[in-house]
Amino acid sequence: MDFRVKVAEKLREIITEIGFDEINQMIEIPPDSLLGDFAFPCFKLAKVLRKPPAVIAGEIVSGFAPCETVERAAQVGAYVNFFLNRELVAKTVIREILEQQEEYGKSGIGGGATVLIDYSSPNIAKPFHVGHIPTTVIGHALYNIYKHLGYNTISINHLGDWGTQFGKLITAYKNWGNEEEVEQGGVAELMRLYIRFHDEADKDASLNDTAREWLVKMQNGEEEAIALWKWFNDISLYEYKNNTYKRLGIDFDYYTGESFYNDKMSAVSDELREKGLLTLSEGASIVDLSAYNMPPCLILRSDGGTLYPTRDIAAAFYRQKTYNFDKVLYVTCMDQSLHFAQWFKVIELMGYDWASKLVHVPLGLINFSEGKLSTRKGNVILLDDVLNDAVSKTRGIIEEKNPNLADKDEIAESVGVGAVVFNNLYNSRIKDVSFSWERVLSFEGESGPYVQYTHARACSILKKADFTPKDSVDYSVLSDEIPSDVIRALSAFPRKILEVSETNEPCVLSRGLIEICQSFNKFYNSQTVLTDDENIRNARLTLVYCVKTVLALGLKLLGIKSPENM
Ligand code: ARG
Repeated sequence: MDFRVKVAEKLREIITEIGFDEINQMIEIPPDSLLGDFAFPCFKLAKVLRKPPAVIAGEIVSGFAPCETVERAAQVGAYVNFFLNRELVAKTVIREILEQQEEYGKSGIGGGATVLIDYSSPNIAKPFHVGHIPTTVIGHALYNIYKHLGYNTISINHLGDWGTQFGKLITAYKNWGNEEEVEQGGVAELMRLYIRFHDEADKDASLNDTAREWLVKMQNGEEEAIALWKWFNDISLYEYKNNTYKRLGIDFDYYTGESFYNDKMSAVSDELREKGLLTLSEGASIVDLSAYNMPPCLILRSDGGTLYPTRDIAAAFYRQKTYNFDKVLYVTCMDQSLHFAQWFKVIELMGYDWASKLVHVPLGLINFSEGKLSTRKGNVILLDDVLNDAVSKTRGIIEEKNPNLADKDEIAESVGVGAVVFNNLYNSRIKDVSFSWERVLSFEGESGPYVQYTHARACSILKKADFTPKDSVDYSVLSDEIPSDVIRALSAFPRKILEVSETNEPCVLSRGLIEICQSFNKFYNSQTVLTDDENIRNARLTLVYCVKTVLALGLKLLGIKSPENM
């Protein structure tokens, strides 16, 4: 049962001037449950009815007839607040969760529509640094949530596996590297070489020429260059898959990087030329976008080499043909917003209406106190190092708080990694993420460990009681304010995940989980769950069970593990 719809129906009985859908949309959820379960603001109606909003609110309240579901309406200024039958709400929500379990909130709303999510996409041979955390974590959460909602969701890692950095890396390897060290050191060794290249090139500019020559050899398909390029790729990808992504619980449906489109690029420039969109500018081929207040989109360099936008355009054509998508999300840092706006426009100018299905999902940066991150200098912070740090700090906290815990290492891994992930999902994605260890690892604040800890607490109560859900529950036990708040937070879950898909903002879900935890901890601290009264005990345990179920599901959708002990 959708209680909002019930409230909208009640309002429709009284208000005839505007339609049901409009009423439904105007209904809000009050910030505090003391103000009711739903609120209806009368400001908009004031314009239609030419009466002060507070007068209208008063009239709605006098016209309101209580029913089984909506028990009471009360006016507060320009608002009408509605109070639901708490017992009925408890029964409905709990039954739904018990019935649906892991499927809770699955709406089928996606209807099998195909959504491609292009995310993470690190640049091989450059380090996988913390700058890639937001896209990796937010992209993954979006992937899980779209999937849960019934979309045919496909994840693509558009690896930066082609380009000038390889010429530099090959040069560095030839000068200062050896096979054994690369095999053993992996990505860290590649990064060391890459950084060394920049240090040395500052002193000896001819190294840049050598790097360019290697790039040309790669482009010409020369054996040695291609073999080295492939080797660097294999090493990097192996490490991402078996280390970084594995720790984060991520696997991609496709790892089709930029090099995959090497043979699909000339078709793009040919078509652009045919359609009269290509112009020459200082030897380079560009699409002029001045009519749209944007700098030109670069298609071909003066030496004929392709560029980042060319590869994205070729990839978009390939994806359109291969998947016939309904939507593609490009999850990247917001400093790429112009890049996406430009080439989306180019596709539109080529006459393809599916350009409107391409969506850039821009993200803020991640800030350490050290300032902005750079891959060229030596002061990069590697993603793996951040995860390692988080895990070892968590290990320390466990040692302090719960030294007898079994599987300490495994739990420290889940909690440490989860803490970093959650920290990137808690604020609106466009906001820069500031990283403070204290907040990330807090067990009490609005953090990953707090949610995981609440979940583990629920698990331990259930275990202690050896509880399994029963068919009959006395829901009246759960109708006072404190458990009602928990139920309210649980009932918001399906709407929250829907909202994530509408806004591409996973923080809507993470905040919803925090609300569940806060109300649950209040409940747990003020009402004894394991009482002797069988009736009360069963009802309260049922609620604990629902909290555990929804928290585990929510964490899973965010890409975070939920250990049963902590
Ligand atoms: N490799 C790029 C980077 O690290 C991100 C790629 C994003 N996806 C895309 N289709 N352009 O900045």
